[in-house]
Amino acid sequence: MTETGFRGFLNDLEERGELWRISQEIDPLDEIGAFIARADYAHIEKGLLFENPKGSDIPVFANTIGSSYKRIAEAFDVPLDAAVASAGEKVMKVLRSGGIEPEYVARKDAPCKEVILKGEDADLTRLPILRMNPQDGTKTSAFLEGRFACPPAVSKPSQNGRNISFHRFEITGPREGSVWIFRGTGDARSMEEAWGAKIDDPSSSWDTDKAKPFPTAFVIGVEPHFILAGANAALPYNNNDFATIGGLTGKPVRMVKCETIDVDVPADAEIVIEGVYHPFKWAKQGRFASFNGFYDEARRRPAFEVTAITMRKKPIYQHVHIGRPLNETNNIAAFFRGVRVYNDLKAVLPNVVDVYVDPSAGCGFTVHVKIDKRRVGEPKLAMMRAYTALQGFCKHVFVYDKDIDIREPHERDWALAHRFMADRDLLIVPNTLGMNIDPLAQGKMGMPAKLGVHDGEGEILLNTRTFMGADCTEPLGLKVMERVVPDKDVEARIDSVWSKALAAQ
Ligand SMILES: Cc1cc2nc3c(=O)[nH]c(=O)nc-3n(C[C@H](O)[C@H](O)[C@H](O)COP(=O)(O)O)c2cc1C
Repeated sequence: MTETGFRGFLNDLEERGELWRISQEIDPLDEIGAFIARADYAHIEKGLLFENPKGSDIPVFANTIGSSYKRIAEAFDVPLDAAVASAGEKVMKVLRSGGIEPEYVARKDAPCKEVILKGEDADLTRLPILRMNPQDGTKTSAFLEGRFACPPAVSKPSQNGRNISFHRFEITGPREGSVWIFRGTGDARSMEEAWGAKIDDPSSSWDTDKAKPFPTAFVIGVEPHFILAGANAALPYNNNDFATIGGLTGKPVRMVKCETIDVDVPADAEIVIEGVYHPFKWAKQGRFASFNGFYDEARRRPAFEVTAITMRKKPIYQHVHIGRPLNETNNIAAFFRGVRVYNDLKAVLPNVVDVYVDPSAGCGFTVHVKIDKRRVGEPKLAMMRAYTALQGFCKHVFVYDKDIDIREPHERDWALAHRFMADRDLLIVPNTLGMNIDPLAQGKMGMPAKLGVHDGEGEILLNTRTFMGADCTEPLGLKVMERVVPDKDVEARIDSVWSKALAAQ
């Protein structure tokens, strides 16, 4: 039988020459993470299969999506150069249609149930969980070596709702972890409903009798669509994300019920970690390398108790990487921030052509916008709208004409050098809403700004930053020198010369 799901995805990669097998022994503590970072920096877009992780007989697979938009475009089956615009439209179309409902299979037909571990046996130390970066983690006792997992988390916000999201999970013991759930995410809302209290507000008036544990399953070893659904905040948290995945792939997701909690998971997953967040139980997490390339400080996070681990007999551990940019996390997040800005801009500026968030730029801190400019002033409108679309995330917006390839740094630099005049085209809005993962906007958060624009003089206002927009478009109605562009005929003539030269390498 042809493999489907994650195994089918790996087979496809192998057939296309896009699976890099690393057979040498390599340590999940720091080494695998460093290898992934090196591959990302070298722009190697292959999936990485570490066949021999030290101390484990479970192989580790990394870069399901990787650090470029290539596999995102493939997963959505859209052209790479129009991925942001087309993927957003596809998701909205599927959401409107309701997608394809998942189908439920019996436990015996679910590969993720081949091994069922409960009680003491549900031991996370069996898995080759990585310390992604050397300074990750609290590291205060035996297994607390700063190991973090970041697989898609599945919860059940309502009878028909199935939510997929990501929450970094630090292993604090064989059957426990501390998990970062951002305020405002779907799971934070679901958890607050179960607990009857604000999860990160110690002053809440808690009704401990009414508070219920909040169940979640972490799912390891899934196709790119699951990873992308988990990262897509545009998917309403209380709809069925699996129906959306079905709508995108054209076939229903095979689901199965969990063993110890009221949550359903993809039956073809490699490994499932089941568990609960008990009301008002917290654990220290971090420090931890965040997507922006800085270590975030240790903070109090909800504690997670593992109630079961189920898996295939010979599972593969799928790892989602976070480290210095470039990395998989900031790439996925950057892509969806771009989708968000594109959709929002399109509502007020139909002549927006493309939006690009480079994965290195803090997934939304810097946004590039391409417009087919028709009216004076449109670039400033685009700047302000892009800022408000991402709120605290957005810090810089660059707006370009339609002849600029905004994915190419040299094209962007060209526009900046030749179409931007700072006294005329720069928009600066000080003290706009920022966020505490911006190292320049931490102010009175209890931590000094790591890089101070103030050089230590004066105080930085709490959670604020300076917004800047740079208008890199040509002035309308002004005769400017003509740009040198490639000649189509000449290009056509050298195409075959070019490909033969490449093949002969
Ligand atoms: C790889 C990755 C890691 C993430 N880590 C976290 C995290 O640690 N905590 C969190 O709350 N959100 C994290 N996010 C963002 C959420 O998963 C994302 O916003 C999600 O769409 C929330 O969806 P929901 O509001 O439908 O639950 C991460 C995103 C990605 C792509």
